[in-house]
Amino acid sequence: MYKINKILIGTHNKGKYKEISDLLPRNVVKISPLSLGIESPEETGKTFSENSLLKAKFFYEKSNIVTLSDDSGLEVECLNNEPGIYSSRWADEFGGFDNAMTEILKRVKKINKGTKASFTSSLTIYLDNKKIITEIGKINGKISKKKGLNGFGYDPIFIPNGHTKTFAEMEYKDKLLIDHRYIAYKKLEKKIKNYIQ
Ligand code: IMP
Repeated sequence: MYKINKILIGTHNKGKYKEISDLLPRNVVKISPLSLGIESPEETGKTFSENSLLKAKFFYEKSNIVTLSDDSGLEVECLNNEPGIYSSRWADEFGGFDNAMTEILKRVKKINKGTKASFTSSLTIYLDNKKIITEIGKINGKISKKKGLNGFGYDPIFIPNGHTKTFAEMEYKDKLLIDHRYIAYKKLEKKIKNYIQ
């Protein structure tokens, strides 16, 4: 069995890149698509897993390096689980994450059917063209008014169940070790352990 000594982390999102990088073993060299001049593919999938798979395949084929990609997003129950796979696109459409969060808060208030929400991450690793593994992680919680300055994306408006702080109020390490990406990574880790030096 071959051993992985480097992994391309298939994302241009700095927040995600850092989290995935910090979850992977220290001795594995981490490579960004940016450093190789590789752009992102179009996300045409209908689910988180379709998108994480298409991203991993795209970056693997461009780089020929073992690739780990994430597709993730925030689902708000009373908004028919929007923005979901369109979480990043909502930020583009509304002119940034701050505006997208304001929009979510406005809609949740108007609909007035509770604040239940969740974050999901689908992680796909492309070890080679035949060995591809996808795992999903989900964390339930609720929408809160904007609080906190840490983290990225929608972190200021999400409080995970069993906690009182938003992701953006938590210390970086505290969020890293409970979030959707961590849950997905822990499942994946069991399956790739033998490939890592
Ligand atoms: P995509 O997976 O590249 O389509 O982007 C997912 C979007 O969801 C990003 O724009 C993120 O900002 C948002 N998102 C995913 N995970 C997190 C998280 O852990 N905290 C805050 N926002 C997140």
